[in-house]
Amino acid sequence: MGKFFKRSAWLAGSLLLVLAAIYGGAWWTSEQALARVYTIHDPSLVFAGDAAEAARGAHLYSVLGCVECHGADARGKLVFDAGPVARVVGSNLTPAALAERYDANQLAAAIRHGVRADGRALRFMPAGDFQHLSDADTAALVRHLQSLPPSDHAPGDTVIGPVGRVLHLFGKFDLAPAEHIDHQRRARSGPVPGPSAEYGAYLAHVCTGCHGADWAGQRVPGTPPELPPASNLTPHANGLAGWTEADFIRVIREGKRPDGRELHGFMPWRVYAAMTDEELQAIWRHLSTLPPMPGQAGG
Ligand code: HEC
Ligand code: HEC
Repeated sequence: MGKFFKRSAWLAGSLLLVLAAIYGGAWWTSEQALARVYTIHDPSLVFAGDAAEAARGAHLYSVLGCVECHGADARGKLVFDAGPVARVVGSNLTPAALAERYDANQLAAAIRHGVRADGRALRFMPAGDFQHLSDADTAALVRHLQSLPPSDHAPGDTVIGPVGRVLHLFGKFDLAPAEHIDHQRRARSGPVPGPSAEYGAYLAHVCTGCHGADWAGQRVPGTPPELPPASNLTPHANGLAGWTEADFIRVIREGKRPDGRELHGFMPWRVYAAMTDEELQAIWRHLSTLPPMPGQAGG
């Protein structure tokens, strides 16, 4: 064997070893994240049991975006299949699938803490967006799930691929959102529903997973390059400076910006289009109170 060949073989071998070590680390880290058991001590849900609660639960199920991943009828559906990254399936949430495995408080823990009935982390279930939900709103959502018509539809299972595990190792993929949630026991209350900035901030927690905690926009972690970044929603020239409340309501209701450009379907505007005028006004008021941030240039 020539010297050159020996050296290349040695280099290739070392490279393979490094890759194997990274992959081993990624496997171990993701297995650890999914094996960890969380104990949730939140106060037990209290149900109002009236018609207003049932209506609120159905409304929240749709406008908080559950419908995007679990389907309008909550029978579960394929969310996306990104081969070696992951195949994400929103579970069947009807009583046929959940009643035997989850009681009401365990459902609340799944929604606000991202954990299964046995305390292990749910995969990709974006509980961080729902961790602030008030006890009353959570009770309304749980009641909605428990009163759905049972369906035995089997949407399939979520599978994490090797690339998904490596991305998780480097903090680029939120495999187990429970890892970043505060699991301390606490009672949670929400602002009075109405067109106030405060109520807008409460509802708009569901936007921050994509638009960023500072609202300045970002490339959504783990998304493929062909998807656009989430826009800057602060009142900055790179964001929504110059927009009116009517412009904002139109973009959410019709998917059209003031300059006529359509929103990419990755922005789930059809889901938020079901919000009431009052809810959209509240979110607009919240966005108008944010400090302007240069962040990510608008879409
Ligand atoms: C971005 C997609 C997405 C959204 C939005 C979402 N979920 Fe999920 N949810 C998932 C996935 C994926 C799973 C399955 C996790 C797993 O199998 O590890 C899941 C699991 C669950 C479970 C546990 C089901 C089981 O079989 O163990 C419950 C309960 C649940 N979601 C409720 C909700 C509710 C209520 C909402 C809205 C407030 C919601 N989800 C919004 C993706 C989502
Ligand atoms: C799943 C990720 C995701 C979520 C959740 C999300 N957005 Fe977006 N949003 C996007 C993306 C991506 C764009 C850019 C779309 C484009 O470039 O066409 C966008 C664009 C927008 C725009 C248009 C601004 C502009 O000119 O580019 C507005 C307004 C907006 N989002 C508001 C919201 C609000 C309000 C919420 C919560 C109620 C929300 N979004 C939740 C991903 C998301």
